[in-house]
Amino acid sequence: MPSTRPVRSPSRARAPERRLPLNAPVRAWAMSEWALLPLRVFLGVTFAYAGLQKLANPNFLNAASPVSIQSQMIASARISPIHLILSHLVQFAKPLGLVIALGEVAIGVGTLVGLWTRAAALGGAVLSFTLFLTVSFHASPYFTGADIVFFFAWLPLVLAGGGSRLSIDSWIATRAAKMEGAPPPALVAIPFIKVQQLCGHFNRGRCNAREGLRCEAAVCPILLGERAPMVTRVTIDSVDRRSLVLGGAAAAMVGTTAALMGGAVAAVGRAIGGAKPAVGPNQLGATTTTAAGAGKTTTTTNATTSALGTKLGPASDVPVGNAATFSIPSSGDPGIVVQAVKGQFEAYDAVCPHAGCTVGYYAANQVLACPCHGSQFMLDTGAVINGPAPHGLTKLNVTEGPDGNLYLK
Ligand code: FES
Repeated sequence: MPSTRPVRSPSRARAPERRLPLNAPVRAWAMSEWALLPLRVFLGVTFAYAGLQKLANPNFLNAASPVSIQSQMIASARISPIHLILSHLVQFAKPLGLVIALGEVAIGVGTLVGLWTRAAALGGAVLSFTLFLTVSFHASPYFTGADIVFFFAWLPLVLAGGGSRLSIDSWIATRAAKMEGAPPPALVAIPFIKVQQLCGHFNRGRCNAREGLRCEAAVCPILLGERAPMVTRVTIDSVDRRSLVLGGAAAAMVGTTAALMGGAVAAVGRAIGGAKPAVGPNQLGATTTTAAGAGKTTTTTNATTSALGTKLGPASDVPVGNAATFSIPSSGDPGIVVQAVKGQFEAYDAVCPHAGCTVGYYAANQVLACPCHGSQFMLDTGAVINGPAPHGLTKLNVTEGPDGNLYLK
């Protein structure tokens, strides 16, 4: 019986095979469709909400507040693997905070409406990874820090795009094709065996178009043929250019609307939520110097020991209704002492038990709050009120001596 296997001509050089990494299916980037829609909606709503919440919170850009972006950067700089970069960026905290808040709104809205979805998802992944390195790196166990989860949640949208359902990108692609008289760029998912049945090159497991080599989905010349652009999935150049113009116009429109919305939310937030100004803590019994141009604060603690304990500094450094910070001599950890009621001092190791950021006193609510993930602690006991911290703060015994100084026992 004669062999049915086609003979390859030695004179014809075979074109190099193009394979996707890990043998991913050809055009894997266009396969999300409905499957990624719930993830897209969740990430879109969450990031837009997070950005608007920051804009609406008058304390977010208020350097004196323990929940401000500046406090977050200072609190996480102590423990972050990129602390050198962070400590240099503290002086730009305000513009950085604004960029983060507006970026979150842009990423969220773009993802939600499916406009430049892959670019928005890439922005979300970069932002989440940066937050992981700064505020969540020491979360224990690691999955209790949300940023690492967000980073991985963005990756499917980076790799596969947002799908064509409920998506402005898809609407633009269809419209651009219609304007050029091209067929709509609809995609269907079918098993590869169906492609083999329909393909004129398929010959008993071999591919005539590949000179008789084995028929494989990963190198199928029919599927690989023309590669669609990443964002619009339209294959004709003029249509693609038109999609880009339409996409740009839509992005400008959505961006302007989001910026107006962000401005309105910020104005309302300041009008109804900004009544109580936050006050920054003093440094107790310390000499503080600021290095010119570096935004870096160096503190020298003047602690001495006596029968009353370790002298931290004058009690007058902690005004009623305010807090002061100090360095705990035995551990080097930051400490915080609060005088909420006259003559009554509450002191704690200020290291947050969640991921090690430094907590601050939130006078408006009379609680200790962690700027990194929002854990809150009771002022009188240090117990957790809410947030991801697994347990309360370590209480310290600080008393006022007859000489008007505070002592740590
Ligand atoms: S470090 Fe995460 S809540 Fe404090």
